[in-house]
Amino acid sequence: MNDANPLDDPGADPFEIARAAAADIARLTGVEHHDIALTLGSGWGRAADLVGETTATVPATEVTGFSRPALEGHPGTLRSILTPSGTRVLVIGARTHFYEGHGVRRVVHSVRTAAATGATIMVLTNGAGGVRRTFSPGQPVLISDHINLTAASPLEGATFVDLTDLYSARLRALARTVEPALDEGVYCQFRGPHYETPAEVRMAGIIGGDIVGMSTALEAIAAREAGMEVLGFSLITNLAAGIQETPLSHEEVLEAGQAAGPVISQLLARVVAAI
Ligand code: HPA
Repeated sequence: MNDANPLDDPGADPFEIARAAAADIARLTGVEHHDIALTLGSGWGRAADLVGETTATVPATEVTGFSRPALEGHPGTLRSILTPSGTRVLVIGARTHFYEGHGVRRVVHSVRTAAATGATIMVLTNGAGGVRRTFSPGQPVLISDHINLTAASPLEGATFVDLTDLYSARLRALARTVEPALDEGVYCQFRGPHYETPAEVRMAGIIGGDIVGMSTALEAIAAREAGMEVLGFSLITNLAAGIQETPLSHEEVLEAGQAAGPVISQLLARVVAAI
């Protein structure tokens, strides 16, 4: 496999590369058009199997512009799934994080590719820390809005995009028809990969944040730029630094994701079925 990524050429057009990626997906899956795209973050991985029948699985490395996975043992894949009602879902199991340091173009490439396959709804999921003490590990929360603390944007040049109602009120209401008890909160994207300090978590709470994590906000902006409707879910894997008394660890995050996996995967599949 070649490490060169066409997105790293500053002169390249990222939208053209996304169209090339969508053409790869069409060729490799035999599916010309997808309706919904789903990015599966920590804990949400099993949802794909419940959404419908997987008709094709493609290693992300065979699709133009996708990066080699950051975490060892994570062969990122893209899956085409047919739901019982005939909706085509593109499941993105290959996320590039901003903290990897490859630039925002690579972070949002999967979203731009999803849009280029025809998807008009982008469902973004993640594992995150809870700032609000009323949240508990294992709890899924709807993202109602975000605060982007990365100091970066996927938009280039004088591209002014309205982010009012970025996390679609319509889709949040629809999710609540499936699970009326779903709480919601404002997601703060930090750069990472270090977890936040307790002072940063306090700041996040003071400025209006309820959840802290290292993904999603930049992807949501790119989805809106592409004209997609966005639905966001966080799995609270831990209470954020200083809110919980014990130190944070990646193992704890993974374990919480494992434990909550079956319940949140079912929730997500039911929400996708309701869309
Ligand atoms: N902070 C940032 N990212 C995270 C956390 C957290 O507490 N938990 C899971 N991802």
